[in-house]
Amino acid sequence: MKGAKVAFVCQECGYESARWMGKCPACDSWNSFVEERRPDVRVSRPISSVGAGWGGSGAVAAPVPIGQISASGEKRLSTGIGEFDRVLGGGVVAGSVVLIGGDPGIGKSTILLQAAQSIAASKGVVLYVTGEESVEQVGLRAARLGAGSDSLLVLAETDVRAVVEAMVTIDPVLVVIDSIQTMEDVELGSSPGSIGQVRECTNRLMRAAKERGVPVFLVGHVTKSGAIAGPKALEHVVDTVLYFEGEGNHAHRIIRAAKNRYGSTNEVGIFVMTDRGLAEVENPSEALLSERPGGAAGSVVVASVEGTRPLLVEVQALVARSVTGTPRRTTTGVDYNRTAIIIAVLDRRAGFAIGTEDIYVNVAGGVTLTEPAADLGIATAIVSSFRNIPAAPKTAVFGEVGLAGELRGVSQADMRVNEAKRLGFKRCVLPSHNVKSMTRRQLAGSGVEIVGASTLREALEAVFAVVDG
Ligand code: TYD
Ligand code: MG
Repeated sequence: MKGAKVAFVCQECGYESARWMGKCPACDSWNSFVEERRPDVRVSRPISSVGAGWGGSGAVAAPVPIGQISASGEKRLSTGIGEFDRVLGGGVVAGSVVLIGGDPGIGKSTILLQAAQSIAASKGVVLYVTGEESVEQVGLRAARLGAGSDSLLVLAETDVRAVVEAMVTIDPVLVVIDSIQTMEDVELGSSPGSIGQVRECTNRLMRAAKERGVPVFLVGHVTKSGAIAGPKALEHVVDTVLYFEGEGNHAHRIIRAAKNRYGSTNEVGIFVMTDRGLAEVENPSEALLSERPGGAAGSVVVASVEGTRPLLVEVQALVARSVTGTPRRTTTGVDYNRTAIIIAVLDRRAGFAIGTEDIYVNVAGGVTLTEPAADLGIATAIVSSFRNIPAAPKTAVFGEVGLAGELRGVSQADMRVNEAKRLGFKRCVLPSHNVKSMTRRQLAGSGVEIVGASTLREALEAVFAVVDG
């Protein structure tokens, strides 16, 4: 191909090289280089034809004083699904491109079809492009979800140029691409799903979205390393990246924003998979605690905050004598390294000889806890299992554990306490630093006994006090 550039691209991370390499110097994966061709823009375009901005119209953009830019100008389209709107930052912004990643079968196509149906029913034509499933398969799912709007158009197509053309002729209010890995630009010559294809197709769709002011949802598959195919390659191109979390065999699904140019990234949307699609969970704390075993050792409730919302979550631990020389540690839903630190602090600072035990930590309901406020919950659950004594009933905990064994303050303490109260908890054990900054009214009016602790040791004594006494 004349005027085309040949490059070898790592399919794991997008690293480019002029020659083939066995091992990628950027991400250390083996045998990941594939030859890709792309039109060389530098050769084929005279300088006078190079446009500025997305329009590419050739008009040169003039600088604008920052005070004159209207910030409230973004137009948002509600998806009709409250929890989904919440993660998006209050609906999807016109002309934005949103990438939705997650394991196969987790519910990406389901939520997008539900959103597409709701928008088609109230706002206008929606174009649902399926490259993965046939029109009939999409139809079957739609029937199951009760999605039958005449304004919801399904197109089985993998050629990205045809998709952009359809966007022009149909003029939809929303476009869904299921999935970006099946899209291809025939001129590139590489196979669909390769980094070059995924990146080029995303760029084309991105341009079309910006030019037409139409929001586009892209479904992206997650590779075994946990990243959306060519992770870095796509994540910084699109406006918003959402990830679906959840265990395949749990009904709960959480959508979390990993990047959002139009909203906060720490909001989560909580859903449950039913036989008629994904349903919003109105009262997540209650749902997550519904299966909690009463009075069992190794189970503790953490008052955590996800975004702007408090969430009570059960942390479970199991400490067992190690049969091999090297103790095993497994975590689901909490960070492995964070847990290792907490185990070390318990061992060295709080006097629990657990350094040689096998330790398993799990968060119930398939939830992932990312904030340090969960530390005290992890520590308490481990000690509860190790000593085989249940935590005091109706007690919730939170606080960050420091390396010196101190309990450090966390944000939004009163929001956590209020959520615990709402769900009928009688006591909260939290960092004394947080207690100090609470007003007398907050302390008295909370209806929950508030116990401040300045060290991990103190906090543990408070949690197990009722049982001991
Ligand atoms: P799907 O949206 O096809 O997953 P993805 O696009 O992320 O690969 O959803 C897949 C799972 O959800 C599938 O195992 C069936 C189940 N499901 C339900 O339980 N109820 C439903 O109403 C629908 C549509 C799917
Ligand atoms: Mg799908």
